[in-house]
Amino acid sequence: MNEFFEDIWRGLNASPKYMESKYFYDEAGDAIFQEIMNVPEYYLTKSEMDIFSSQSGKLADIIANQFAAFDVIELGPGDCTKSIHLLKELASRKTDFTYYPIDISTNIINQLDRTLPSIVPGMKVAGLNGDYFDMLDELKDMSTRNKVVLFLGSSIGNIPLENTVDFFKALKSHLSPGDLILTGFDLKKDPNVILAAYNDKAGVTKRFNLNLLTRINNTLDADFDTAQFAHAPTYSEETGACESYLVSMKKQRVRVGEVGWIHFDEGERIYMEVSQKYTTKQVDDIAVAAGFEPVHHFYDSKEWFMDALWKCA
Ligand code: AVJ
Repeated sequence: MNEFFEDIWRGLNASPKYMESKYFYDEAGDAIFQEIMNVPEYYLTKSEMDIFSSQSGKLADIIANQFAAFDVIELGPGDCTKSIHLLKELASRKTDFTYYPIDISTNIINQLDRTLPSIVPGMKVAGLNGDYFDMLDELKDMSTRNKVVLFLGSSIGNIPLENTVDFFKALKSHLSPGDLILTGFDLKKDPNVILAAYNDKAGVTKRFNLNLLTRINNTLDADFDTAQFAHAPTYSEETGACESYLVSMKKQRVRVGEVGWIHFDEGERIYMEVSQKYTTKQVDDIAVAAGFEPVHHFYDSKEWFMDALWKCA
């Protein structure tokens, strides 16, 4: 049986019902996420872009001070518009590095392999297509140089807070002492700002969530009526968890393939995604608990977002 079906079926039969946010990103989902990054309420990308466009020189100085030759590895590079600022700064210094973007999308990797050499002339690029940790394993046989790992966008926020230290411990097991890692963390702020980012007026984020139901309809032969589900994000100032739910607007049943029916009560929710928000102190504590040493905090001008630089102990 295929993994997508198994994961979806397990989540729909759980109580409360849930889906895994990694499944948002089919071709249509990728395109809708691009749209999300452009809606006025979604500040995360703009804030992190502010950091990269104004502080890449400083970051490049810190990196170039540590190593003369190294690998830059980016987990989930997207179209690279943020990291390109850093890559240009690194290329303009006396450094020798290869850029390894890692992504599960062949599309993204092919695109970057093709376009980057002309955007940053002379830069060595070797895209790796696959799972982050599998590709980091493969890299072990390709290079023994120190690594600078980029994990941007607050993708980390999709991991429940209680699992975050374990994620970084696992990442650390692929690194060597002295290696650097730069992670984007979305910070706690005015709850209205956060909720608006996940509930934009144009309804793009709603479409993003409903697209997973459409994906299930198309690939698992299900019959979700997307008009019968509302999009409802929540945010807790206490825990910093911004959670997205789809809410059944009536009592209904949905058929999934041949295997059977899923029943929904009116108002019943499907948990779709967590987008965790952090304090600087929390981020530092995560670093130390996972075996890293905090080196520097890079903030945007509003201090809404932070890229945290850690050194592998
Ligand atoms: C790509 C995980 C950073 O959680 O903010 C955007 C995904 N979901 N709008 C986030 C997302 C709804 C996004 N990340």
